[in-house]
Amino acid sequence: MSHSDHSTDSHATSRPPLELLRSVLGSFILPLVVVGVLVSIFLGGGNSVPTASMAEDAVAARIQKVGTIAFAEANKEPRTGEQVFQAQCGACHATGAAGSPKFGDAAAWGPRLASGFDALLNSALKGKGNMGPQGGGAASDFEVARALVYMANAAGGKFPEPKAPAK
Ligand code: HEC
Repeated sequence: MSHSDHSTDSHATSRPPLELLRSVLGSFILPLVVVGVLVSIFLGGGNSVPTASMAEDAVAARIQKVGTIAFAEANKEPRTGEQVFQAQCGACHATGAAGSPKFGDAAAWGPRLASGFDALLNSALKGKGNMGPQGGGAASDFEVARALVYMANAAGGKFPEPKAPAK
């Protein structure tokens, strides 16, 4: 009785804690470390290559949001000539596409500027040659006029900023 008690005691006090430690290390901590290493390899490897493009995507998303908000607000307030140019006129005039007088090209704009603001605005609103009517669409007539002045003055024109129509 006393012998078996003693041996049970030694089992209870010395071996189980070691086994517990070993099983904790083996079944819990080691796998955790392994998983941790694997995760860090995966995340690290995943980050090191596409970081630049991911950052670009994030920047693009942020810029897009700002642009979207600006555009939404611009639907209430008249947009500036530059904004309308970017949104509507630049498709042709930024590059001179379809035979349009190119933005900032004084030689191409000079003879047209000579015909005066009213004639140019009339052409822009109703269309001319390869340019379809720019009025009656997303841009108000006032916004088209602003875009016209923005473009004309970038090419040597001296048109005053058009007055907002009375509401
Ligand atoms: C689809 C292409 C296109 C777009 C978009 C466009 N234009 Fe034009 N624009 C032209 C072309 C082509 C001409 C030359 C037309 C000609 O003289 O036959 C022109 C000419 C003009 C002229 C000179 C007209 C004249 O009487 O000589 C003005 C002013 C003008 N565009 C303003 C604008 C404004 C302002 C916008 C934006 C609101 C705009 N255009 C958008 C193609 C475009």
